[in-house]
Amino acid sequence: MFNRRTLLGGLGAGVVSLATPWSRKLSWAAAGAAKGQLRFAFFTDVHARTEWGTPVAMAKAARTINAQKPDLVIAGGDLITDGFTSLPEQVAPRWDVYMKMHNAIDGDVHATIGNHDLVAANPADGSKPSAEFRNRLKLDRTFYTFDAMGYRVFVLDSINVIHGKLHYQGLIDLSQMEWLREELLKTPKEMPIVMVSHIPLLTAFYGATRGALEGGKPNRVMVNNRGVLNLFRDHNLLLVLQGHLHAQEIIRWRKTTFITGGAVCAKWWRGPWYSTEEGFNAITLKENHVD
Ligand SMILES: [Fe+2]
Repeated sequence: MFNRRTLLGGLGAGVVSLATPWSRKLSWAAAGAAKGQLRFAFFTDVHARTEWGTPVAMAKAARTINAQKPDLVIAGGDLITDGFTSLPEQVAPRWDVYMKMHNAIDGDVHATIGNHDLVAANPADGSKPSAEFRNRLKLDRTFYTFDAMGYRVFVLDSINVIHGKLHYQGLIDLSQMEWLREELLKTPKEMPIVMVSHIPLLTAFYGATRGALEGGKPNRVMVNNRGVLNLFRDHNLLLVLQGHLHAQEIIRWRKTTFITGGAVCAKWWRGPWYSTEEGFNAITLKENHVD
């Protein structure tokens, strides 16, 4: 289902390089009409910054993605680090570094917004939120859809800014739910769908790390996940791509495969995070199979 590649091999001391690149093959089928093959890369949680040699690692990530020769590339959010409480001028160098990686990737890169990309959402001086993500990525909106090789991709904005200690929660708000409903009306029932959300709709992370009775806080998981998934009940939701948790996991629920894609920066550029090393996902969709 995915290949992981060493990204930090050329970096200096203090940064853990990958021990053993590994790969696994899995294949799951979903019901629906047969379609063509789509090979794509899904990378998430870059947390671009200017220090620690990270631009070198990001350039290597771009080269490694290009070596896969994917049909397209999807970015899962948190492209830069710590935008949320910063002002646009403070994070401009981080966007510059990220855009260098983004532009070094061959072909189209379709970007998803993450909480760290939300520049000045809650700055210390109370300034207004900035449209930095949309401006940098040249997007009219933070949620959108596109088609590729017979697959329809829904890119969601899962970051809902709230007051209080958590600052944001994982939520698809009412206007975006309405948009999803309208888009699904225009989507054939058998058409295979890929959905991308920075904040996970389904995860085993908290059960695995905190205990089987734990679920996850509202800023870690999507609080209206069931409502969103219910919208797709009569459609062919083949694959959901998620970020945010920096751990790699694959969940198969009903007819849908959920992949939480690890992180390009692993443990925020400090080595592996719960055994997930620096890397990205190389995914092939063939008809209704996810490999
Ligand atoms: Fe992140």
